[in-house]
Parts: sequence; structure tokens; C-alpha cells
Amino acid sequence: MNKERKLIIAGNWKMNKTVAEGLDLVHGLKLELASVKEVDIVVCPPFTALSEVSKAILDSNLRLGAQNMSENGLGAYTGEIAAGMLKEFSVRYVILGHSERRQYQKESDALIAKKAASVHAAALKPIVCVGETLAERESNQTEQVLDTQVRGSLCGLTREQMVETVVAYEPVWAIGTGKTATTQQAQDAHAFIRSLLAKMFDESIAKKVRIQYGGSVKPSNSRELMSQPDVDGALVGGAALEVRSFADIIKNSI
Ligand code: PGA
Repeated sequence: MNKERKLIIAGNWKMNKTVAEGLDLVHGLKLELASVKEVDIVVCPPFTALSEVSKAILDSNLRLGAQNMSENGLGAYTGEIAAGMLKEFSVRYVILGHSERRQYQKESDALIAKKAASVHAAALKPIVCVGETLAERESNQTEQVLDTQVRGSLCGLTREQMVETVVAYEPVWAIGTGKTATTQQAQDAHAFIRSLLAKMFDESIAKKVRIQYGGSVKPSNSRELMSQPDVDGALVGGAALEVRSFADIIKNSI
């Protein structure tokens, strides 16, 4: 598939996998995906598996991501993880503002903006998640919600930082539900997000930013989703937990 921007497909393992299970998964992915050069492939294990997974993928085309990070540097923040700690394991990407964290940890756009600044200050790349709930979509508020979230969580970034930021559009109603947005719904939302970036920064920056789709991505729908002009990758949950399905999502997207 000939895309304007290089695809980035990330597996968000969420709160799954022991170290041994995580190693099994990445060993399988390494074998299956060794020849893939067209896609940036990222695995995002829980913090407890970062160290071992990092060593296991050292000599591969897999890159490492974390699922969250503190907005603060080192200090008295019990239970938190700082950027410097992630860098120790060669983490390159950090998922921020996933809808589960927005919902359960009450993360706000302002907090996500602070985290995004800290991720960039450490020369890591944030994957900033946005997306509307079912109630918001049904009451025609999708664009309003995306406007607020995109502006609120990306407002402090410089132009250079924005280009190195990945945005993940994840309609909350499609996450873990088996319901995927139609390709048209995904394309429309992605194009809208890109138009917002053009307003906040400019057209040339907006054209460079990669926007992932997330929400029940699977091998059977990845090709069609990735073929949309403004869909530049995927953030995959459930289907990223098995070698076969994650590898097939990537292979089908090329
Ligand atoms: P899902 O999760 O693929 O299981 O729907 C996606 C996500 O939450 O990132």
C-alpha cells in the first residue's frame, strides 16, 4: 500500500501478560515480522515486562512503547513512573490519555498536555489518544469532543514536537466491543483531526502527523481501514495479544 506517511501499528497489551507470556509473544512476532520494513511496529507491554521485552527485541524491527508516564520528573510520587526510567529500557513511544485512563483515572486534557510535554522533553514520542463515547456520537457531538480533546491535549507542543507526536483516534464505543467504526467514519474523524492540526499549527505540520485508528482492529478489517487516506496506522488492543492476529493485522496493512 502506498501511503503518504509511514504506517505505525502499535499493540497495547493493557493489563495483560506475565513476563514469560510477553516474551513468548514478542519471540513469535519477531519471527513473523522480520521482513516488514513498511510499517513502524510497536509493542506496549505493562511496565513489569518492559525490561525483559526490551532485551528480547533489541536486534529486531519491533520498537518499545509504554502505556502511561508521569508528568513529573523523579521525586516523591508513589506508584508513578518517570521518563528517565522508561528510557533505561529503550522505550521510544508512550501512550497517553487512553480512554480507559480518562475514564478510570479521570485524566484530563490538561494533564495529558503536561504528560505530552514531559514525554517530548525526554526525547520520547507520545501517542495521544482521543475519541468520543457512544452517547456523544449519537448526539452529534463527535466533532466538538474531538476539537476539545485535540486542542486541550496538544496545545502546548512546538511545531517540531507535533510532527513527532502520534495521535490515536479511538471511538470509545469501538474499544473492546467488537464494533469497528466504518471506514468512512474513521476517515471522516481522521480528516477532521488533521484539519484541527492545520488550524492549530499549519497545513505542512498537519500533513506530517500520523493518526492511528483504534477500536476492534482485527486482521479482517485492517486493510480497508489502512487504505483510507488519513488513516496512518492502528492502535490495537485485544488482537495484539496473540502472535497470529497482530502479525496478520500488520501484514494485511502493507
Ligand atoms: P481493542 O482496544 O483493539 O481491544 O478494541 C484498542 C485500544 O484500546 O487501544
